[in-house]
This record gives sequence, structure tokens and C-alpha cells, in this order.
Amino acid sequence: MAIRTILHYPDPRLREKARPVERITPDLLKLIDDMAETMYAAPGVGLAATQIGEPHRVFLIDIAGEDEPSDLKVFINPEITSRDGTQTWEEGCLSFPGVTEEIKRAERVTVRALDRDGKPFELEADGLLAVAVQHENDHLDGVLMVDHVGPLKKRLMARKVQKHGATRRASN
Ligand code: NI
Repeated sequence: MAIRTILHYPDPRLREKARPVERITPDLLKLIDDMAETMYAAPGVGLAATQIGEPHRVFLIDIAGEDEPSDLKVFINPEITSRDGTQTWEEGCLSFPGVTEEIKRAERVTVRALDRDGKPFELEADGLLAVAVQHENDHLDGVLMVDHVGPLKKRLMARKVQKHGATRRASN
């Protein structure tokens, strides 16, 4: 397993539309292991393959709290089949370090996907899990948090990411 580099906005690779996975191969399982290690190290509650420059339709979510056992969910070729209601969460994204923003999304979703064994499953999610599913699924279509806010907030977010990067470089 290896910790991979997470791409930061505005890296153009974050805009790539990910391709469906055709077969569960050893390479794909290795990618999933790397993604899990990278997500936990960050730490983050979700990571899409596109965020590490691998345009495959795969994302991981683990919303378990710090004092709870880990609950890693793997979604391969996910498809959101229903959306219902609205909710607003203060979201963060590993590709936007130092930024949080209130974003309105569906309150409940149903998602179909394959697990890491290639077995199909369906999940009904609400609250934070529903937010995470929608956020990560967006990544696979090259859609980012900035696409859910107005132009002024978009500029502010871009500036914050830039500033965060500059501070980090200065301290290394
Ligand atoms: Ni994200």
C-alpha cells in the first residue's frame, strides 16, 4: 500500500470524467488499498479515484467517528438512482485544503454500486452519508465543490486553496 498524492484545485485532472471499471483486477484492488491508506492518512471521510489522478469510477467513504470502529465503504461504478429532499452541510474536500463551504444537496439518496469483490449492492443513505455519496460521485464526473457556489464564493475558495498551499510550502 502507498499513500498517493492528492490533487488540489485547480489541477485540470480533477475535471476528468472517470471511466467505468470493466473488471475487478489486482491493479484495481491495489488502487483501492492505496486510496484507503491515502484517505485515512489525510484524514478524510471520502476519496474519489480522480482525486489521485486515476480516472476510474471508484470512490471510498468512511464516516465513522474517531472513537468508532472504521466502516470503509467501497463504491465501484456507482449510480445514484434516487434523490429526495434537501439539506445543507458545511463541506470540506481533500482537493480544497483549508476550505469549507455550505453546500445544498439532496437529503436522501439511493446509490447502486459494486463492492470491492465486484458484488452489486444498493444503499439508502441520509445525512452525512448522503452528502458524502453525492460529493464523491460528483468527483467522478469532474464536478467540484466550486460548481455548487456562486462566482464570488468560487473566487474566494480558489484564493484560500492557493494561500494554504503557499503557507505549507513556506513551512516545509
Ligand atoms: Ni472532495
